[in-house]
Amino acid sequence: MALLKILQYPDERLHKVAKKVQAVTDDTRKLIRDMAETMYAAPGVGLAATQVDVHERIIVVDISDMHDDLVVLINPELVASNGGREHEEGCLSVPGIYENVRRAEQITVRALNEQGETFTLEADGLLAICIQHEMDHLEGKVFVEYLSPLKQSRIRAKLKKHRRETL
Ligand code: NI
Repeated sequence: MALLKILQYPDERLHKVAKKVQAVTDDTRKLIRDMAETMYAAPGVGLAATQVDVHERIIVVDISDMHDDLVVLINPELVASNGGREHEEGCLSVPGIYENVRRAEQITVRALNEQGETFTLEADGLLAICIQHEMDHLEGKVFVEYLSPLKQSRIRAKLKKHRRETL
């Protein structure tokens, strides 16, 4: 297993649209293990392949305290969504920034598992928020892009300053 490097906003590569996984192979499973390890080490509750500069439609999410409830979604598709609520989000690609984003409250997604089998997952609460956040990454969208242009430029300036200070 290996820790992968997480792209940092506003890296242009975070805006690439990920391609569908054509076949779930041993390479796919290795990438998923590395992504999970990278997410747990960060620590974070979700990671999209886009964030480690692999532009394939794969996300991992684990909202459990014990890191023992990994959800892997390959080629996830939203098949239903209900309700809406605002909740504070953060992102491993946008360290130190937490902002409210409005998302559907309940979702149903269809995806492939690590064996390449189709399954359907119904999620609500934090899990639903995380899955929607990670699915956005596959479309090249970072959560701060839901905010006003003014807020976005403030965040970019703050991250730039932070990076200078930590170099
Ligand atoms: Ni994120």
